[in-house]
Amino acid sequence: MFDDPLSPSWTPLLEAAWAAREHAHAPYSHFQVGAALLTDAGEVVAGCNVENAAYPVTLCAERGALSAAVASGLRPGGLVAAVVVTDVAELTPPCGACRQALVEFAATLPVLLANRHTRRLHHLENLLPHSFTGSHFQ
Ligand code: THU
Repeated sequence: MFDDPLSPSWTPLLEAAWAAREHAHAPYSHFQVGAALLTDAGEVVAGCNVENAAYPVTLCAERGALSAAVASGLRPGGLVAAVVVTDVAELTPPCGACRQALVEFAATLPVLLANRHTRRLHHLENLLPHSFTGSHFQ
């Protein structure tokens, strides 16, 4: 299902991520990013990057999508799959902060990176090995 980057299971996530990317607010970098998450409730939730004149305030597409998913009822362990889309030749992996944010809700997570021409499938446990979690201090 989500272990094959060409599986049709990715289609609703890709469509949602591309649609959200259209709304990206990226007047400073001009780098528009779309993301979509599938939850264990079967819901697809999308996000886009939202930049700010005060640069560090910028929110990545992945964390925008995550915030919307949590507001829809996502609980830790409830993420099923993630997609990140950009319109540049080199595929865009989630930044370190987004990897850390995602791992709170899925220890293992297929993360599909895509542009108009190609896709690559990663897994969060490989993108963020030895991650810090609540188990380290609870
Ligand atoms: N960005 C994302 O939205 N997601 C990523 O994984 C990498 C970076 C955004 C943040 C900023 O608006 C722009 O890309 C350039 O860094």
